[in-house]
Amino acid sequence: MPVVGVIGLGTMGSGIAQVAAHSGYTVLAMDMDERISKQSLASMEKRLRDRVASGKMKQEELEGILRNINIVSSFQQFSRAEVVIEAVFERVEIKKEVLQKISDAVSEHALIGSNTSSISITMLSGAVRQPGRFIGLHFFNPVPVMKLVEIVKGYSTSDETVSSAKEFAISLGKQPVVVSDFPGFVSNRVLMPMINEAIFALMEGVAGVEEIDTIMKLGMHHPMGPLELADLIGLDVCLDIMNSLYSGFRDPKYRPCPLLEKMVNAGLLGRKSGRGFYTY
Ligand code: CAA
Repeated sequence: MPVVGVIGLGTMGSGIAQVAAHSGYTVLAMDMDERISKQSLASMEKRLRDRVASGKMKQEELEGILRNINIVSSFQQFSRAEVVIEAVFERVEIKKEVLQKISDAVSEHALIGSNTSSISITMLSGAVRQPGRFIGLHFFNPVPVMKLVEIVKGYSTSDETVSSAKEFAISLGKQPVVVSDFPGFVSNRVLMPMINEAIFALMEGVAGVEEIDTIMKLGMHHPMGPLELADLIGLDVCLDIMNSLYSGFRDPKYRPCPLLEKMVNAGLLGRKSGRGFYTY
């Protein structure tokens, strides 16, 4: 089976690794921090075992997924991968360093994707030797559940790469949608200002956390309220994305809400830190 590399095994990277392994790919998964590799594999296995226990997945399926995932520890091991996806921390310098190492390791035919949620694909493409083969592959949390892959075409991305990225997303059972490289792409340009506005409404005392979330769930049929969703995404990630929109468009309508900044500074990052708008 074709080989897929995933670098960065946080929530998104481990979700992508799981979905690729479930679709039959041999997955080479790596995190700079070995502890994170182990933890991420352990929590994936626990989630899958729960699914088996509740009759939602067959034992053989679980075994197949785990068999297909191989934790690796050097970039050289990606030389045989056909697709490599970078899903590391959302910082330009870190992503560029990782992309450069991927680019040096892979064959010239490999597709290199970034799961960035808001950094310009064109800007990141400067770090790879094959900018025509580089593209945004933006997955959504929780990756095994969410159907969309937002495919972001950078300035130098070739049409052939766009086609390969679409085929790859379809092979994972996802629905690809291709967009141009603009701040926030489409998903976060639309989603984040809504979340930011909900935080303004909270800060201004228009309504409480549960009231705001209930209004959007029951009135707009959203599966989660915007504040609950911000906790799922991570408040630090929401702030990074608002800052990308603000600096990318240079438009004050994208300024991050001061309450969001304050909560991030206080270490209230949502589910991952145990506290955000809710306590976990
Ligand atoms: N990993 C894997 N599977 C998960 C999961 C996780 N973390 N969380 C839930 N699931 C699965 C459950 O196992 C369940 O699967 P089955 O139907 O096969 O049993 C299914 O999702 C539904 O879960 P629940 O019944 O427990 O809960 P729910 O019906 O309330 O759904 C939800 C949970 C899918 C998260 C739903 O609330 C939802 O869709 N929320 C909105 C999520 C969203 O908007 N995500 C995008 C965020 S933006 C982003 O990711 C990109 C960015 O750049 C910021």
